[in-house]
Amino acid sequence: MLVLGIESSCDETGVALVDTGGAGVPRLLSHALYSQIAMHQAYGGVVPELASRDHIRRVLPLTQEVMQGAQRTLADVDVVAYTRGPGLAGALLVGAGVACALAAALGKPAMGVHHLEGHLLSPFLSADPPEFPFVALLVSGGHTQLMRVDRVGSYELLGETIDDAAGEAFDKSAKLMGLPYPGGPHLARLALGGDGAAFKLPRPLLHSGNLDFSFAGLKTAVLTQAKKLGDELQARKADLAASTQAAIVEVLVKKTLAAMSQTALTRLVVAGGVGANALLRSQLNAACRQRGIRVHYPELEFCTDNGAMIAMAAGMRLQAGLVSLDKLSAGYTFDVKPRWDLSEFQPAPALAPLGT
Ligand code: KG4
Ligand code: ZN
Repeated sequence: MLVLGIESSCDETGVALVDTGGAGVPRLLSHALYSQIAMHQAYGGVVPELASRDHIRRVLPLTQEVMQGAQRTLADVDVVAYTRGPGLAGALLVGAGVACALAAALGKPAMGVHHLEGHLLSPFLSADPPEFPFVALLVSGGHTQLMRVDRVGSYELLGETIDDAAGEAFDKSAKLMGLPYPGGPHLARLALGGDGAAFKLPRPLLHSGNLDFSFAGLKTAVLTQAKKLGDELQARKADLAASTQAAIVEVLVKKTLAAMSQTALTRLVVAGGVGANALLRSQLNAACRQRGIRVHYPELEFCTDNGAMIAMAAGMRLQAGLVSLDKLSAGYTFDVKPRWDLSEFQPAPALAPLGT
């Protein structure tokens, strides 16, 4: 079965095609991505209305590119999957609307996918996929969560941020240092030339005894430090960046290790944009090697938002029998869920026929 996946929850338009036939997890046939980062950079963050309009411009040309890349035609597609939430409402509506219109035109079912399930399952796109069960550290611009994953569709929340996400902590701190949006990768690059121990920054909730995170206080501490430095900031920017990164990474690593001990699992999956961070990877790798824990990461290109993870999540749900095609075929009305807890996520309900 060929599953087309469309991602449009934030500032990346992603489209991909997977094949669920054959042994093992779905196979990625082709994918294409357009990042709006350059467009939003002028505003220092994502402008939702501009994001929606740009998704409209990109989604069909990307779909054509994917079909050509896979040497298939749209008539070969069996299911059209799209990100139903969480994300920006207008941006989600573009992907959902296009996916349902395409599906209706092709006479094939459409299927809504949870964006975070896409991130969680993205390591299955790699040449060295994980095995269930595992602990997942989900670190993106909007979410910081530790989950226990026993199988597709079984996600237990172990802990999460009570305020800002790790990606937000990177982005907001980077903004204070005058770095372009999104700040995470820029801050990480700047940190390469700095000393992570130069400034003492807080490690919030490090000793809270649970698996929750809090990053909102960190940006305030970075701001206070930047103000204190005054004219010296420019010369000490790399040290401040390295110290900020060290604080975020230390909390992520320690909480993740606590989750591994608590669950007694020996496999860890790291997903989401912050999973691309080199310091986080090297520290997690070293700590996990010592403890006999296998760590899996998605390929770097699948760490940040993309269509492949949406097609993969849809394909794996279908393979696991969590979604029935008959029910999906019922119609093409749709909704999006800008706020949506993964732990609430149940197999997508049957879509009501048009006009009901
Ligand atoms: O998963 P993602 O693409 O989008 C969301 O669903 O939020 O994650 C984007 C986040 C941004 O906050 C970005 O700054 C961060 O991931 N990020 C990084 C790195 N690459 C992306 N943060 C730290 N180091 C990186 N190398
Ligand atoms: Zn994401």
